[in-house]
Amino acid sequence: MRLISIRCFGLIVVFGLLPILLFYSWNAWSGSGVVIRLGQRGSIQKLLEERTKGFVGGHDNIAYHVNEAVAGRLAQNACVCEGDPETFRLPLANLLFPRVWAHNLHLSFLSSHPDPEGVKRHRAQEYSSSQKRSYTPADELIVAEANSPLQYPTQGVQVQPLRTAIIPGLGLREETRANHTVHLTATLGTFDVAATVDAVSVKGDGEMHMTVSSPDLDALNRQLQFVTYTNTVFNPKTADTVQFSTEGHRSFFTIKVGHDRVPELYNSGSPGEYNISALVTIATKTFLRYDKLKDLIDSIRKYYPTVTIVIADDNEHPKAVPGPYIDQYIMPFKKGWFAGRNLAVSQVITKYVLWVDDDFIFSSNTKLEKMVDILEKTTLDLVGGAVREVTGYTATFCHTISVEAGGEDGNCLHIRQGHHHSVDGFPSCVVADAVINFFMGRTEKVRQAGFNPRLSRHGHLEFFIDALGSLHIGSCSDVIVNHASKIKLPWSQTSSEKAYEHFRYSSKNTEGVNPDENFYFRNRFKCMTSN
Ligand SMILES: *[C@@H]1O[C@H](CO)[C@@H](O)[C@H](O)[C@H]1NC(C)=O
Ligand SMILES: *[C@@H]1O[C@H](CO)[C@@H](O)[C@H](O)[C@H]1NC(C)=O
Repeated sequence: MRLISIRCFGLIVVFGLLPILLFYSWNAWSGSGVVIRLGQRGSIQKLLEERTKGFVGGHDNIAYHVNEAVAGRLAQNACVCEGDPETFRLPLANLLFPRVWAHNLHLSFLSSHPDPEGVKRHRAQEYSSSQKRSYTPADELIVAEANSPLQYPTQGVQVQPLRTAIIPGLGLREETRANHTVHLTATLGTFDVAATVDAVSVKGDGEMHMTVSSPDLDALNRQLQFVTYTNTVFNPKTADTVQFSTEGHRSFFTIKVGHDRVPELYNSGSPGEYNISALVTIATKTFLRYDKLKDLIDSIRKYYPTVTIVIADDNEHPKAVPGPYIDQYIMPFKKGWFAGRNLAVSQVITKYVLWVDDDFIFSSNTKLEKMVDILEKTTLDLVGGAVREVTGYTATFCHTISVEAGGEDGNCLHIRQGHHHSVDGFPSCVVADAVINFFMGRTEKVRQAGFNPRLSRHGHLEFFIDALGSLHIGSCSDVIVNHASKIKLPWSQTSSEKAYEHFRYSSKNTEGVNPDENFYFRNRFKCMTSN
């Protein structure tokens, strides 16, 4: 077995009698599995019966033996969030051996809500209409019956809205008889023939139901090669389920209806050497920390003198940040963390955007070329680096995220430290679902996922939860940025540092959305687990 040379480490900040920084490392392997708990045996049997019913009728009376190890891995739409039991109670045990904790959003959010039934109903309505909007017939399950004489394309037929395309692969194989007939039925378009063949009768051409028949099977099959589909109901992205049938046999297949994706390409100069100034914009958000920001900019300029830096600034009394290649965007006071990320990323015109916090410091290990290289050579959309603390400890902060179906109450969110697998050709990189707040991404993909501006003073994983299923994410331990000291003894803090801590960490100042509400309502989770 190949040894994976990178591990993802977590980082935890502990406040003790004095603020102490304490770190622990945790091997990713042990924490990344998501356990779908087995219910009773009866519920698995019910599930198997549900999932196997009705396809090939007549076998329901044959007994079977449940393989619990496999059947238990099937999604049951009845997820639960369970934390690990507390095994021993030492003060730092949780840090050295991170336990999985569980949080019931259903309870914590609804119990604090003045109208819990109303908010549940409202969430259900919003969910149902969002499901309707995202529904496409191409997601429907279609089973091909055994021994069908019909030949048809199971996937890969696509037509632009209101345009016409040949349906490839239609055919009929059956014993010779007096009259061979096939029927085609659609719901969002019409059929026709692009050419006619002698001795074949075509009825219903130009309509949603067309019948093609002939005493000569070869002639019929020749005619079927010229059958076209024309989409008639405009929808920029949907699918039509076509029924193709003959005496006693029916089959279904989908035709995708949609525009071809319009590419967004970047002309970043001549290929070869990576020109970082042409390819990358550095984006950051600042609040009450101009001294830190100045150190960051000075450190960037040592290595990348002409790279553009976009700064989103929501200070009450903004100060101009001087220097070339700097775009400073002033926002309303305290507009917040994700709003600032959104604004900064919206102004990027290069292919890639690098996110940095305003208290990071570039060093000779902050090689943006390495991040560009992996983004250019793989299908990854976003890649995180590593952050080195003043103590010398370096964290990549990798997590996996999974969502388990949970029925009407909502789904379960599971977050674990760890990663999925390594990246071929990049030994310091792994694939994960969430990475540290030092990352480079394809600009348009980061914009697509977006930063929910309602999350004002905290929030990082929330971006990656929104990006789940649309961004392909990696983490590389060999691109390292330094972190200026974050937590100082209270008596050595400057007044602006004190004010920053106050806004950033004080629970009284969590403006914007209640984090429970964000997970419960917006993401429709009922509970979460993490370690
Ligand atoms: C063959 O069957 C179809 C449909 O039943 C019918 O419309 C057509 O006239 C028949 N053709 C011949 C030659 O019998
Ligand atoms: C790199 O890109 C910048 C910005 O587009 C451009 O001004 C500069 O001339 C380029 N450098 C090289 C060596 O091509």
